[in-house]
Amino acid sequence: MRTKIVAGNWKMNKTPAEAKALIAAIRAELDGLDCPVEVVVCPPFVALAVAAEALKGSRIGLGAQTMHAAASGAFTGEVSAAMLVETGVKYVILGHSERRTLFGETDAAVNAKTQAALAAGLTPIICVGETLQEREANRTADVVTSQLKGSLAGLGAALERCVIAYEPVWAIGTGRTATPGQAQEVHALIRRVLAELAGGKVANGVRIQYGGSMKPDNAAELMAQPDIDGGLIGGAALKADSFAAIVKAGC
Ligand code: 13P
Repeated sequence: MRTKIVAGNWKMNKTPAEAKALIAAIRAELDGLDCPVEVVVCPPFVALAVAAEALKGSRIGLGAQTMHAAASGAFTGEVSAAMLVETGVKYVILGHSERRTLFGETDAAVNAKTQAALAAGLTPIICVGETLQEREANRTADVVTSQLKGSLAGLGAALERCVIAYEPVWAIGTGRTATPGQAQEVHALIRRVLAELAGGKVANGVRIQYGGSMKPDNAAELMAQPDIDGGLIGGAALKADSFAAIVKAGC
């Protein structure tokens, strides 16, 4: 049995003061809820310390949205895994499509970051997904397989400590969600690739989130699919009521 995991990717939204207020509102909805879903919020770097404080005493975990693979050094503007850990961070999103397309992150870079995150004790949430053009050219399986093989190379059994997020690029921020059938098909493929990489036992334990216009009204149906183990939520994670409704849909 895999524990579902719902994470909010706040992207470049919420100042520290706004983050504190949003976390208070999320806690008002979720503290005391009897539900096995693992819940994570991922604010921007500058809000992480305030968020860690605001999350004290709750079972909601804290995540970052990216990190650098190196331990320290001349990497102006970047943040290391150790810095995140000391701030109270437990999860880190790696290889989000916005990082890949807007900031040139390659599979090799995602792989290096994943290794560094695991070495620091963080849980990486590694994102993969095809563009609309790739889907229409029937290249979804090839693209996702090659992203997985590149991003997860050499991890072996440590793969069991990773979370994978399938985020079809055409569904991100567009209001156009993959149908449960479309998403399940790719999630099943992802699990087959994980089995190739690390064996069936490890693959069966890895949580695979769906991301891309997940909302309160489609979350339950998506998360009811056999290989969909939660969600990575963008827009709907910026409001406490919609984020909480998605968490509850996974309970
Ligand atoms: P939306 O939920 O806004 O489509 O964003 C999904 C996403 O990119 C989460 O990482």
